[in-house]
Amino acid sequence: MPFSDYKTALVTGASSGIGAAVVERFRREGVEVHALARSGEALHKLANACGCIPHVMDVTDRDGLTALTDKVQFDILVNNAGVDRPKKFLDADPEDIDLLVDVNLRAVLHLTRLVVPGMVARDRGHVVNISSIAGAYNFGGNSTYHATKAAVSMLSRQLRIDAFGSRVRVTEICPGRVATDIFAHVHGDSPEIRERFIEGYELPEARDIADAIGFAIAAPVAVNIGHMEITPTLQVPGGLSTAKPAKAG
Ligand SMILES: NC(=O)c1ccc[n+]([C@@H]2O[C@H](COP(=O)([O-])OP(=O)(O)OC[C@H]3O[C@@H](n4cnc5c(N)ncnc54)[C@H](OP(=O)(O)O)[C@@H]3O)[C@@H](O)[C@H]2O)c1
Repeated sequence: MPFSDYKTALVTGASSGIGAAVVERFRREGVEVHALARSGEALHKLANACGCIPHVMDVTDRDGLTALTDKVQFDILVNNAGVDRPKKFLDADPEDIDLLVDVNLRAVLHLTRLVVPGMVARDRGHVVNISSIAGAYNFGGNSTYHATKAAVSMLSRQLRIDAFGSRVRVTEICPGRVATDIFAHVHGDSPEIRERFIEGYELPEARDIADAIGFAIAAPVAVNIGHMEITPTLQVPGGLSTAKPAKAG
């Protein structure tokens, strides 16, 4: 389906990283892009640069999302906003659990509920969900993050059943490490954090993820690209730990 068949897009988490790159990619295709995030300054800068329509909104603001989706019929929905609070689950803070569920999962479910029925009725639409390799593999990370991303992954598959019979396509993008500010947002910006996660590595950039999304959207309407796992070449998930029991007493 050429991009020209889609008129409007909603991209969440559009103020930085992957979301901002997707907004810029869609704007280059002439799509009317609604860019949603909390950081007004970054969104307005993006709007000045590429002509997207900024919505300074928290993705957990259900009334705000309802008002926006009542007003605009979206042909493309990119559920991208995401947060992490790395910590072992045994030490998890209750507020972190709620935040990750609210932003990474609950908001995705509500936006999908608000947008996809209209797509099905119009027989046209594309949902792109940004999950993570954390949704598919276990490794040292925040278990709540893994759980929310696994849920987004299953939602992406299940949504195909719910929209079956219509030309509504669903693509799950499952990134490994991407060179964005997510690590600074999660751990705080410092030379140590840049050194730990970014510097010296060969990583996909946000625009590489945006190009992959562009490829899925530009595919003929008969083609649904359901799942794309995109990692650095020099990154691979996996591993196995085996421990002897701690000695009692
Ligand atoms: N970078 C990676 O290595 C990587 C790997 C796997 C998956 N991912 C996933 O990719 C997605 C984008 O991540 P990124 O790397 O581009 O990170 P990022 O630069 O930190 O961007 C995250 C975006 O989410 C928005 N956001 C966070 N909380 C929000 C809220 N309550 N309401 C609205 N927007 C909110 C942020 O905007 P505001 O703060 O302005 O609201 C920001 O625009 C996330 O879902 C992330 O889990 C990233």
